[in-house]
Amino acid sequence: MRIIVVDNYEEMSKKAALMVASQVTLKPDSVLGLATGDTPLGMYEELVKLYNKQEVDFKEVRTFNLDEYYGLDPENPQSYYSYMTRNLFNKVDISKNNINMPDGMAKDVNASCVLYESKIKTLGGIDMQVLGIGGNGHIGFNEPNVNFEAQTHLVNLDEQTIEANSRFFKSIEEVPVKAISMGIKTIMNSKKIILLANGLNKAEVIEKAVNGKINPSIPASILQLHNDVTIIIDKEAASLL
Ligand code: PGA
Repeated sequence: MRIIVVDNYEEMSKKAALMVASQVTLKPDSVLGLATGDTPLGMYEELVKLYNKQEVDFKEVRTFNLDEYYGLDPENPQSYYSYMTRNLFNKVDISKNNINMPDGMAKDVNASCVLYESKIKTLGGIDMQVLGIGGNGHIGFNEPNVNFEAQTHLVNLDEQTIEANSRFFKSIEEVPVKAISMGIKTIMNSKKIILLANGLNKAEVIEKAVNGKINPSIPASILQLHNDVTIIIDKEAASLL
């Protein structure tokens, strides 16, 4: 694991955007794995700035998002599809055909998860996967006591996750209790991984993920076994390392 400690959120976002832009410069048809949540918002802003300065383009880029709420229409403003559209897809030249999201409305969930995996495989696998980390150690929606062998699947959200994500909804009752998420195996098959975290509230989980035993109760700890992980964190998130 390479750990890059930066002064603040802005620097974290800029460094992450530069890494993604370099990946796309080296391989214009890169397959990117993308994350949602508060953490990568700044990275998307920086990528849009680089795009506007014509320093990177997304014409041939293919994307797969980590997860999507189960039962939310993509047009729902709380869906991760809406988040991606607002923060990146509508602001750059990515082709709609190259965007892939888990289907939160799938009738046959298993079949749609198998299809998601096979699409990733057909395109040659994920070149670079961006991750945030939950306060409970989740990556994607792979919650504590995860099965490290799982691929894309339907998950029950952890209480801590439902509570953390309720800030985006009118009330906690509106937060979906299930989601479709890439599995740990899907994530571990990515060629490169960047994990971003900022703030004191992530310090404890970063310490456990980086220095703790590899353990399903901290899903991100499995990343210790990946051979190309870069963790970009601010001083606060690094404060217990
Ligand atoms: P956050 O979420 O970026 O909103 O903190 C991270 C996550 O739950 O993976």
